[in-house]
Amino acid sequence: MINLDLSRAVSQAELRQYESVVNEIHEIIINKNGRGSDFLGWIDWPLNYDKDEFAQVKKVAKDIRDNADVLLVCGIGGSYLGSRSAIEWLKGLYSDDHLEIIFVGNSFSANYLNQVIDHIKDKSIYLNVISKSGTTTETALAFRILEDLVIARYGVQQSKRRIIATTDANKGTLKTLADLKGYQTFTIPDDIGGRYSVLTSVGLLPIAAAGIDIDQVMAGALKAMIDLKERDLNKNLAYQYGVARRIIEKRGKSAEMLVTYEPQMVMIGEWWKQLFGESEGKEGKGLLPTSCCFSTDLHSMGQFIQEGTKCLFETILLVEKPLSDIVIKVNQENLDNMNYLAGKTVDHVNKKAYEGTYDAHTLVGDVSNIVIKVKESSPFAYGYLTYFFFIACAMSAYLLDINPFDQPGVEVYKKNMFKLLGKK
Ligand code: PA5
Repeated sequence: MINLDLSRAVSQAELRQYESVVNEIHEIIINKNGRGSDFLGWIDWPLNYDKDEFAQVKKVAKDIRDNADVLLVCGIGGSYLGSRSAIEWLKGLYSDDHLEIIFVGNSFSANYLNQVIDHIKDKSIYLNVISKSGTTTETALAFRILEDLVIARYGVQQSKRRIIATTDANKGTLKTLADLKGYQTFTIPDDIGGRYSVLTSVGLLPIAAAGIDIDQVMAGALKAMIDLKERDLNKNLAYQYGVARRIIEKRGKSAEMLVTYEPQMVMIGEWWKQLFGESEGKEGKGLLPTSCCFSTDLHSMGQFIQEGTKCLFETILLVEKPLSDIVIKVNQENLDNMNYLAGKTVDHVNKKAYEGTYDAHTLVGDVSNIVIKVKESSPFAYGYLTYFFFIACAMSAYLLDINPFDQPGVEVYKKNMFKLLGKK
């Protein structure tokens, strides 16, 4: 499902130097006894996930698909980026699905919320609020406003079906609220943190509601789990990617740019940034994760990558088979001088843009490139790739000797904001 090309990034000899430390970290990951190991529940989740809850997710998703025009998904960070990235990648940005999915509760923008409220005024809506802690302010504030709207529109009884809360199994403000109001709840396992939660009901309910086959998502994740249980660095592609990041960092690079060639994968970049940034960026360590979509961003960031400060390397995430393609026709007038492309496809041009850029950045610009090729855009590939990045991130972060699964720094802005807002 995945092909990893490190030939313009690191040498086999460099990789081999990490063999013994990778063996040690492998044991820590598999035996769940390293730093932050309370949050390693995602490791065997593709096998051990709660099958009853999974069936219920599918049932509720069907109810949403049958009865809603719009599903509002209210969450932020790990309770938002995964499902949005999966839905955009697999369905594209202008899907003709009858169900529209709108993400809310991920900012304090009053205008954004007002525009959403205006947009949904004549539509049948369901609301899925997602928060593990149950207290995240962006999410709680949007939910307060939208819950009122749902109740005003449908009444208390019908709202019990239209509002679904995904949160902690037992504790937290949202769990208490949902139980008191009689809303359906789904569970975020205690041992799976936000940025590792897309394969739980956090991501699966919105993804299934979008009409994506979540059995296939989990099958892909399971295949990756089996493939990537491999201890041997020479055979484990996720470990190789994780190690390659550290090798390049040691050469003095401080940023990694994830590059996609599909606008519908921009959110995959956003999800990946949270996964790696929040896992590694602590104790003054970690690579800055950044992302671009080519060829679009070659017209804005390309100059810097080619000739600017040599602070970064690229990881190219390519999909071999596009979801759809267009054959370029001959034009008799040829006023645009584009007939040289006639008979080729638009995706062919995209692939040549990649090949040309790959040579330009690596051979001329001296920018290391890791290339991850994914066979296709499918639910199976999505599940596989997600788990691949989970494992790669755990390996990469443990190589920094930090806890990959906490995020203490996120609290600092919240404390300041709460003080300014007068929160007791
Ligand atoms: O990865 C994380 O832990 C964070 O991004 C959280 O997912 C995010 O802050 C939302 O938290 P919660 O689900 O508790 O509302």
